[in-house]
Amino acid sequence: MKTIVTGGAGFLGSHLCDLLLSKGHQVICIDNMVTGSERNIEHISSDRFTCLKNDVTKPIYFGDRIDYIFHLASPASPVDYLDLPIQTLKVGALGTYNMLGLAKEQGARFMLASTSEVYGDPLVNPQPEEYWGNVNSIGPRGVYDEAKRYAEAITMAYHRYHGLDTRIVRIFNTYGPRMRLNDGRVVPNFIGQALRGEDLTVYGDGSQTRSFCYVSDEVDGIYRLMMSDYTLPVNIGNPEEHTILEFAKIITRMTGSSSGIVFKELPVDDPKQRRPDIEKARKLLGWEPKVGLGDGLRETVGYFQKIPGKSQGKSHP
Ligand SMILES: NC(=O)c1ccc[n+]([C@@H]2O[C@H](COP(=O)([O-])OP(=O)(O)OC[C@H]3O[C@@H](n4cnc5c(N)ncnc54)[C@H](O)[C@@H]3O)[C@@H](O)[C@H]2O)c1
Repeated sequence: MKTIVTGGAGFLGSHLCDLLLSKGHQVICIDNMVTGSERNIEHISSDRFTCLKNDVTKPIYFGDRIDYIFHLASPASPVDYLDLPIQTLKVGALGTYNMLGLAKEQGARFMLASTSEVYGDPLVNPQPEEYWGNVNSIGPRGVYDEAKRYAEAITMAYHRYHGLDTRIVRIFNTYGPRMRLNDGRVVPNFIGQALRGEDLTVYGDGSQTRSFCYVSDEVDGIYRLMMSDYTLPVNIGNPEEHTILEFAKIITRMTGSSSGIVFKELPVDDPKQRRPDIEKARKLLGWEPKVGLGDGLRETVGYFQKIPGKSQGKSHP
């Protein structure tokens, strides 16, 4: 099986490459390294692995037959997509269009890595796949949310109009080793601040909720969905919901840090609640998360303790 992973040098993509290699795939990672890093894939020594430094917003051709395309390329953290708004829109639109075109030409099965952000600031909790969302298209976060909503729409258009074999995974907040300490997402943010002995930054009063899925569970769900025959979107995430304030306290306790908590203003359109309804994943894929928050955080803290540069931080919700 010859499989492309776009964004394969990123956090999730690199773990997905590991999983695919362990299942015998030949893996071609395509990444322009805008938010990814060669460090995430330097441990891979398999001769079934290749990494091409390419921007997927430009057309790419392959002579050999490709069986699967996992399209993960996109800035994903709020810091990244607020810094890179045009690139984010381009990779969601042109990048997805190019990869769908490649899948059509090759007869490959295509998966879009979508996001819980398509639900925006949701008015229902937990969020089932049937919920259409509450997104501000012109707010600062709109560049990411609308890029992914467009990407879902064009994926379904290729499926319906060209009969392309497609999958859409709606990924909820995922954490684990290989996240960047300064990517601004809440888990590395809090861990970095706790390890440096700084106060943890909580935006708003901390009553907004998030649910965090450990990376090995997430990529297992992504793989199972790709191998299933279900073509509508499926949520993959951990339904265990915590307020951000609770979460800050869990991290200070786990790291043994004496850090306090500082409160800052909530950013525009920050979702107040986030929790996946995973009934579809349970029924269709026999999937549910296995790694508890304590175990997942221990692995993640251990990773951050070992990497150089934990002295740098960039705080963002
Ligand atoms: N991690 C999460 O919690 C989460 C949640 C929801 C959705 N997702 C989705 O999963 C995917 C991966 O996210 P991640 O957390 O691993 O982020 P990441 O930033 O670590 O990885 C994204 C990768 O895509 C690459 N990339 C970006 N634009 C590109 C382009 N034009 N051409 C080629 N490569 C490009 C980056 O260099 C990076 O390696 C993204 O599509 C994201 O939207 C992630």
